[in-house]
Amino acid sequence: MSAAENSISPSAAAREFLAREHQLLIGGEWVGPAAGGSIEVTDPASEARIATVSLGDATDIDRAVQAARAALRGEWSRLTSYEREALINRLADQLIANLELLTELEVLDNGMPRMAAQYSIAKFGGDFLRYYAGWATKIHGETIPVSPQDSRNGDSLTYTRREPIGVVGAIIPWNAPLVMATLKLAPALAAGCTVVLKPAEQTPLTALLLGELVRKAGFPPGVVNIVPGYGESAGAALAAHPDVDKIAFTGSTEVGRKIINAAAGNLKRVTLELGGKSPMVVFPDADLERVVPGATRGAFFLQGQNCMAGTRLFVHEDVFDRVVEGVAAMAGSFRLGPGLDPQSDLGPLISAEQRERVAGYVAAGREAGAELVCGGEAPSGKGYFFRPTLFARTNMDMKIAREEIFGPVLCAQSFSDSDLQALADEVNSTIYGLSGSVWTRDIAVAHRMAAMIDSGQVSINCHAAVDPAIPFGGNRQSGWGREFGREGLDPYLKTKATTVLF
Ligand code: NAI
Ligand code: MG
Repeated sequence: MSAAENSISPSAAAREFLAREHQLLIGGEWVGPAAGGSIEVTDPASEARIATVSLGDATDIDRAVQAARAALRGEWSRLTSYEREALINRLADQLIANLELLTELEVLDNGMPRMAAQYSIAKFGGDFLRYYAGWATKIHGETIPVSPQDSRNGDSLTYTRREPIGVVGAIIPWNAPLVMATLKLAPALAAGCTVVLKPAEQTPLTALLLGELVRKAGFPPGVVNIVPGYGESAGAALAAHPDVDKIAFTGSTEVGRKIINAAAGNLKRVTLELGGKSPMVVFPDADLERVVPGATRGAFFLQGQNCMAGTRLFVHEDVFDRVVEGVAAMAGSFRLGPGLDPQSDLGPLISAEQRERVAGYVAAGREAGAELVCGGEAPSGKGYFFRPTLFARTNMDMKIAREEIFGPVLCAQSFSDSDLQALADEVNSTIYGLSGSVWTRDIAVAHRMAAMIDSGQVSINCHAAVDPAIPFGGNRQSGWGREFGREGLDPYLKTKATTVLF
């Protein structure tokens, strides 16, 4: 049965939302874009147009930045930290109260299976907001017992304050749209910043519903502004804007470089969550009953369109064939279909363009002599589907093993070396360093290998353990800075030292 025949219709609430006029949220009001631009939103499972959304450009970004600047000096700055906490918690309540609709819109907009959408929105939307709401009351400076300017001990006081960094520009991708939005908003709001959020042009819908929920939660106008638009216009304008104090970006390494250049004008702060090519390293004593499903999900969650995806599988030669067979069997059993269908294990890719890109990598893998074990093609019919693909006998000279594909393609290679450092050097031989996993029952090997993997995060006997409290971010060209956890708050704060001589 083709994907289209199998499709499940959206609920009345979702249809009503899709049919609305979708404007920009600026200064607490829904407003039309200055230039009147719009974009058609597509359901990647059916290729059907499902909504029309206003697109902002540089002029709208400027309006939004001005609104955010004004809000930074207004009522928002006078709220107590308890009131900020309560507002963020109220937004979390709104999100959970609208979980069903958000889930459906996310599925229709991005293509991900319903279960993935629901879980990620509740866990990383709701929990993220609540986690950072709790930080709002725990931000404080220190007193420093020094005696500057030759003052006598006790004749001076030095203290630090932690102040909001100011106006934050958040630029997010399409692969987990609502979660990306909340993970930028939550720490920014906890710190007392104001935000201009630019969702990805492919997936603006849940961010727009979130805008409505921000209003319902009762945030003062201008604290959160939402301007969908293209990267090269709205995104670039936000990154370059002289009155933006910080950019929080998630997306490609290529655009990350552009953000840094654009930010140079006013030396705004920048944090970047960029690409990955994360390894999963399986030792011969590992519990293969856990390795096979763990590695398969690690590779193909969100159709592999996920920066943490385990895309390189390093398996000891003694168990290589068994692991490869197991992963191929599980991947081959996944049902591809529209995310709204509860039977679907994998949804479509985001766009025809992304599917072509993935197909191009698969062709390159074949040409380079990698062994195609399963997948490797798009099924017939509507929708941007691509079968989960496993290549064996890959090596780190191959393009498919070095570059981020951002699709359902897993590269497996075997190792025999008992020299952990040599293995780690091979594992670390990409420009990326975001996530990674080690699978073994030997705790010494597990921790040694985890220490040797050059990435911001390593999981042992699971892949990409994520929680709002666990710091997350990339080494090398996977990014700058960390999000999540206490560390994730720091980029939204600046320290002021104040000294008084009595
Ligand atoms: P992208 O990096 O172009 O898009 C991410 C966000 O940046 C979007 O909101 C986009 O509008 C914005 N953007 C694009 N150009 C910009 C510019 N010059 N200035 C400011 N903002 C800009 O990613 P794209 O084109 O959607 O995907 C291409 C590849 O990037 C993917 O195949 C994947 O390899 C990688 N990628 C990685 C992600 C990650 O989470 N690590 C997320 C999305 C894409
Ligand atoms: Mg792009």
